[in-house]
Amino acid sequence: MKKLFSVLLLAVLVLAAANTAFAARIGISMPTQSLQRWNQDGANMKERFEAVGYEVDLQFANNNVALQVSQVENMILNGADVLVISAIDGASLGGVLAVAKDEGIPVIAYDRLLMETDAVSYYATFDNYMVGTIQGKYLVEALDLDNRTDPVNIEITAGSPDDNNARFFYQGAIDQIMPYIEAGKVVVPSGQIEFEQVATLEWSSERAQARMDNLIAANYAGGQKLHAVLCSNDSTALGVTNSLLGAGFTKEEFPLITGQDCDIANTKNIIAGYQAMSVFKDTRTLAEQVVKMVQAIISGQEVEVNDTTTYDNGVFVVPTYLCEPVFADINNFEELLIESGYYTREQLGI
Ligand code: BGC
Repeated sequence: MKKLFSVLLLAVLVLAAANTAFAARIGISMPTQSLQRWNQDGANMKERFEAVGYEVDLQFANNNVALQVSQVENMILNGADVLVISAIDGASLGGVLAVAKDEGIPVIAYDRLLMETDAVSYYATFDNYMVGTIQGKYLVEALDLDNRTDPVNIEITAGSPDDNNARFFYQGAIDQIMPYIEAGKVVVPSGQIEFEQVATLEWSSERAQARMDNLIAANYAGGQKLHAVLCSNDSTALGVTNSLLGAGFTKEEFPLITGQDCDIANTKNIIAGYQAMSVFKDTRTLAEQVVKMVQAIISGQEVEVNDTTTYDNGVFVVPTYLCEPVFADINNFEELLIESGYYTREQLGI
């Protein structure tokens, strides 16, 4: 009896050890907790990875590049089998990624491309150019640029220059609007049109707000009409909106503000009439796709990608899976955000 018990115990221990050896360890490095979306992205992925039996080491780097490097180093030291990284500065992780490559650890660039490295295996994101296209097309239609005869005034705010996505968003939108600028139908009174002039380091709401304060003081102090502000995402849109409110713009004369992410604060602004639209990127979809990619990598199967031409990181064109971004405004937010279970009514204060 005693012998049987020992044999059984041994069997259980061997099985447990085998099981532990099988529980792949995934290191997830997110840029910051200060923006809503990265908290959601991190939480969604952790939940899904754990649901398929993986161990997760989830870290947020507080928008601090050195901290992100050391967090990824620790993930490698702690035995990560796969790394999923959304970089603060896409080009800053080369050294630590080279170590990952030496150790044979596959790396997935999450939402933001890892630049200037051959140590990235795959990229998963939303179609970033399409995000900008949706914003630009929205302004063309909402301002009725094809039919109106009086010129409209707009200003432009873009994202962080160290994030490869920022130029895609900007370009997608500007390609829609540039023909109207060239035709004189759209005027940018500040004269700031180039990406470098309109970029917002770290996508900071405060920086976007401060820049807008200056633009208003320099160009709109005499009550000139401002029809729209093209903002690449919700954090910059929030800064711009706060600036406009601070400068006394009323709801009746509020410019059309674009955004991206459907953050709670911005969706509330859409409901209140202070933001015209946003672009919904369902982080659940992206998380799900990345979990699939990692499962395929770990089980040695082919990884599904749908774009092998767009995302050149300076060293090679990284095989990519693009999810589809969706236009969101006052008319469809309930269906997109509430009925889909993304937010509750309470979260949006309705
Ligand atoms: C993401 C956007 C986000 C921005 C700021 C970009 O890389 O694609 O969804 O708004 O970073 O965090």
